[in-house]
Amino acid sequence: MQKITDDKLIDAAQTACKRAYAPYSNFRVGAAVALDDGTIVTGCNVENASYGLTICAERAAVFSAVAAGATAISRIAVAVESSQDGANALMPCGGCLQVLSEFMPADGEILIAGGGKFALRDLLPHAFSLSETKTTEGPNDK
Ligand code: THU
Repeated sequence: MQKITDDKLIDAAQTACKRAYAPYSNFRVGAAVALDDGTIVTGCNVENASYGLTICAERAAVFSAVAAGATAISRIAVAVESSQDGANALMPCGGCLQVLSEFMPADGEILIAGGGKFALRDLLPHAFSLSETKTTEGPNDK
């Protein structure tokens, strides 16, 4: 099976970004998870008039990946389209990093379109975990 390239994963995140439903923030985000079977699962942010019900792109992608049968995630790409400036506006929020840490090992890769590549441990070094074998890192680092 052919490995999904970083470029292809970023392309998928950019395509998902175009599908974002973000009429309130005008901040569109797309995410793409590479599954072990060579397929890609995507997600985008979907906002709601009741703002707190909004879901981020990364979490939408992770939840779809789990629904598609993934039990572990090693790579996710994220793409942002916005009128707002600032490099940190490209990075996944803390809540999404925490959700990722449930399925992604500390050395899992987070590819940011136009922003580089990071290990999960760089962005969330001390994830919350209920695992008994918890290390100083995430629950998947046994
Ligand atoms: N958003 C994401 O999709 N991912 C993040 O990691 C941070 C924020 C979305 C939520 C909301 O629709 C918009 O970006 C502005 O916060």
